[in-house]
Amino acid sequence: MLAVMTDSETLYERVGGEQFFETLTRHFYDTMSDDQVVRPLYPDEAEAYETARLQLKWFLMQYWGGPPVYLQRRGVPALRRRHAPYVIGARESGAWLHHMTEAVKAAHPGAEEEAELLTYFEMAATALVNAVPPAANPGAAHGGDC
Ligand code: HEM
Repeated sequence: MLAVMTDSETLYERVGGEQFFETLTRHFYDTMSDDQVVRPLYPDEAEAYETARLQLKWFLMQYWGGPPVYLQRRGVPALRRRHAPYVIGARESGAWLHHMTEAVKAAHPGAEEEAELLTYFEMAATALVNAVPPAANPGAAHGGDC
């Protein structure tokens, strides 16, 4: 039987459902574990690191039209608020996005889905920057290290 693709299919369905987000987040968390910029922000302990991966997986599944597992387990996403405890500057955001871009490519979605995912991650990683660069904050310039 021919698989017919319709416009009403969500990206979640088009990439093959949960398995895609499992592969994506595994690759992301595995490669990020060697990153000296962004890894220190995440929990040391293996179990907590795995929990963080699952929370990202549930969020992404839900965001792209899959089951609302994140909402059921964690509540409303409120990602800016949830990232507030971590200092995320352009460097951290860039490192995060680098690993996520690699993970998206390694998970081999279709070309259209890859473009959608990468556009979204670039937007989201930029939106979660919460550290003001010293140059944009004259009050912090004194005592700066550059
Ligand atoms: C900009 C770079 C980013 C950094 C440095 C970052 C870092 C973090 C850290 C340190 C945590 C907490 C992990 C834990 O202790 O459990 C976290 C949680 C999370 N992040 Fe990010 N993140 C970034 C971008 C993103 C983006 C773009 C998304 C979504 C597309 C995202 C989604 C999440 C989710 C869903 C959680 C779990 C929140 C919860 O339920 O508590 N993050 N992130």
